[in-house]
Amino acid sequence: MIIPELGKATVRMRDPEKVQGLIKALQKGREKKLQVISDFDMTLSRFRFNGERCPTCHNIVDNSSMISEDCRKKLKDLFNIYYPIEIDPAKTIKEKYPLMVEWWTKAHALLCEQKIRKDKLQQAVKESQAKLRDGFEQFFNSLHRNEVPLFIFSAGIGDILEEIISQAGLFFPNVKVVSNYMDFDDNGVLIGFKGEMIHTFNKDNSVLRDTEYFKQISERSNVILLGDTVGDLTMADGVTSVENILKIGFLNDKVEEQTELFLQSYDIVLIKDETLDIANGILQYIT
Ligand code: TMP
Ligand code: MG
Repeated sequence: MIIPELGKATVRMRDPEKVQGLIKALQKGREKKLQVISDFDMTLSRFRFNGERCPTCHNIVDNSSMISEDCRKKLKDLFNIYYPIEIDPAKTIKEKYPLMVEWWTKAHALLCEQKIRKDKLQQAVKESQAKLRDGFEQFFNSLHRNEVPLFIFSAGIGDILEEIISQAGLFFPNVKVVSNYMDFDDNGVLIGFKGEMIHTFNKDNSVLRDTEYFKQISERSNVILLGDTVGDLTMADGVTSVENILKIGFLNDKVEEQTELFLQSYDIVLIKDETLDIANGILQYIT
């Protein structure tokens, strides 16, 4: 194996030779032809830490002191209903799609009743259990140093994920985020979310109105895509011309039930791997 990290016990591949070929092709184009497209929640952020589930962007707001106990309970109930649906391999994306719209619509409506203040978000993130995957510093630093664009495409909350990355000191100019951004009134109180709602299964051209970004980097036809659901597989749809795309999937939960689906969808599947070791190993080889 050209990448020692691929020997880790957490790595599964349907077709190791194809992966080998893809990595060689990426290496040939070096950093000049490369761009990285990544999901945020449970991809760049950790799924588990010390046996405990880590929060998503939404969970960070839900668990904060900005939210009443009553509302927190309602948001938890929604999570307990819809999260199992989101990751259920027995349901098709077509079946899940309207249910995800329901989840995001209900959750955002609840958040908007809470008079959330923009100036409280920083503290909420500081006090949260937010955790990026091990190796995140190397990941962000190497992309920055090599001037490789990182496109974060998240159905989470843009304000929160930016704050997490900023507090880590890693929100560099090579990072571009498309996500659900909060909309505040003149007094800095949450009144809604900007633009079209992004949920698990519409991360594709339907919400990528700003194609200018991909036009500007059209010479970067080699892509590394990182995700944790099958909804993340369409995140590179906006790329103007793809020569080689390597898809790395984090399989965090319901591992047995989802392994087959993930192996069919992602080139590299990482089972309960809370690190960015594989991405870092590949980046080191390419750049
Ligand atoms: P991602 O696209 O960055 O992974 O973010 C989407 C995740 O947000 C998705 O997997 C489920 C999660 N989520 C919550 O935790 N609470 C919520 O209220 C909603 C709407 C989504
Ligand atoms: Mg995710």
